[in-house]
Amino acid sequence: MAVVALSKHVPVQEARRTEYSSFSVTPISPHIGAEIRGVDLSQPVGGQLLADIRQAWADWMVLVFRDQRLDREAHKAFGRHFGRLHVHPMHHNRPDQDPEILVVKTTAKSAYTAGEGWHADVTCDAVPPMGSMLYITETPECGGGDTLFANMYMACEMLSPAMRGFMEGLDAVHDGALPYVGNYKSVPPEGGYPRHVHPVITRHPDTGRQVLYVNSGFTSHVEGLQRWESRALLDMAFGLLQREPKLHCRVRWEPNTLTFWDNRCTQHQAVWDYYPYSRYGERVSIVGEDAPAR
Ligand code: SIN
Repeated sequence: MAVVALSKHVPVQEARRTEYSSFSVTPISPHIGAEIRGVDLSQPVGGQLLADIRQAWADWMVLVFRDQRLDREAHKAFGRHFGRLHVHPMHHNRPDQDPEILVVKTTAKSAYTAGEGWHADVTCDAVPPMGSMLYITETPECGGGDTLFANMYMACEMLSPAMRGFMEGLDAVHDGALPYVGNYKSVPPEGGYPRHVHPVITRHPDTGRQVLYVNSGFTSHVEGLQRWESRALLDMAFGLLQREPKLHCRVRWEPNTLTFWDNRCTQHQAVWDYYPYSRYGERVSIVGEDAPAR
């Protein structure tokens, strides 16, 4: 695959694949995100179809499957092809709900919408989810309610070699209390929410590519730096996502769309631009195999 330089520090793979044995994909943006129609995830998924989904996921990071009709069991069964299902750290607040399903519901009465800020899912865990599958069944009548995704390989490649070299040696703390208590005002479980240290720059276990792995949802500080140095470094990293739309794709939901993102090399942000209308979906996440590593 040819590599071109879009700008000084942005080597980008050209001509990503769109044809697979079982389906074609339509890119949402040149560098992240692809849409798939004509695949029915309620039917058994295996063999070549599963191999193609894995390959397309590695190529595009965010796969958008349209026109799905999934009940909870089918949603979970699709998730289990990729690993064990994750139980969210806030589950103790909703003991009556299925532990493997995270309800993502926003109405006029909601105090917040989940994920309204750039983040990767649950990076406070020792082994954060490798991926998440959000199945949206109700979209706001007024439109909107999109989700933005960012390519964190590309964010890493945009750093100068000197800055990347410096960051490669650093670790950062990811603290569940930041979003779950600070933003969502939830009551922590006994012993508190998870809090773990991960490298600032990780290596994706499947592709071997480096990823900028700090996010404004969970990363509280960088270890071994003065607090003010840590703040400046994190603000620089978080600012990259705000400043660079070329890192992004935007998923426009239709009812019955399932979006499957690679949580190890992307971040995402939900857009709450539809008050007082409602949006409803359910998320299944898959536990990663290994802790993030250099
Ligand atoms: C999430 O952070 O998983 C929610 C994303 C969304 O609702 O669009």
